[in-house]
Amino acid sequence: MKKIIAIVLAVAMIASVAVLAGCGNSNTDANKASDKPKLTMATNAYFPPYEYYEGDNIIGIDAEVAKAIADKLGMELEIVDIEFDSIITGVQTGKYDMGMAGMTVTDERKESVDFSDSYATGIQSVIVKNDSPITSVDDILAKDATYKVGVQLSTTGDIYIGDDYEKEGKDASLITRFQTGNDAVTALVSGKVDAVIIDNEPAKSYVAANEGLKVLDTEYVVEDYAICFAKNNTELKDKVNAALKELIADGSVKKIVDKYITAK
Ligand code: ARG
Repeated sequence: MKKIIAIVLAVAMIASVAVLAGCGNSNTDANKASDKPKLTMATNAYFPPYEYYEGDNIIGIDAEVAKAIADKLGMELEIVDIEFDSIITGVQTGKYDMGMAGMTVTDERKESVDFSDSYATGIQSVIVKNDSPITSVDDILAKDATYKVGVQLSTTGDIYIGDDYEKEGKDASLITRFQTGNDAVTALVSGKVDAVIIDNEPAKSYVAANEGLKVLDTEYVVEDYAICFAKNNTELKDKVNAALKELIADGSVKKIVDKYITAK
């Protein structure tokens, strides 16, 4: 019995030393990390393969490109997951240093924020159920069509389909705006909407993750993705652009994109 107690005590002691050592390590790491200036990136992390959760971590093309940029600038990247709708205001008011969220460059957004050079191309696509009669955006916009469409609030998909519904004199209440692309796709699966307009790569990821859905071949709109900054923060924008240029030139960006898209 004594022997067993001795062994238990010994094991407990070793364990506590290990824990203490572990603490020491992570402390030094944390201290080291805080030496570097922070680079806060606002995103909306329900947008695979650009940003999404793997456990508690946000991974994806944007997360990795941003990390590579931060490393080049000697900064410590911090990714903050917020509603897509709040990214531009958060960046504008200086709450976050930059916004990176598969965000499309548009003239309207340019009035509020500045954009970096583009690092990727996006395509607005349509997801429907496999047995849907919808074969193109034109079907959705056809004169007598009354299809219900789901979009992510304030995305370009939302803006374009809203404009087109208005142009065609369609009932705006046929469009439902969801907080995330996930929510829009869930509504499609449960039959609450007939189609979802969303960027092509997330569309492919959602279709792969949900049975019975497909992405239509049609390209609704082709667009450029870029990082946004507050208008008075040209210093950071210029630094990020310089880093991005190098990362594009040396193939790092392509490698990241390949890891998440091409190689799949
Ligand atoms: N490209 C579209 C836009 O800029 C959708 C982006 C949505 N991004 C996201 N992380 N949820 O409006």
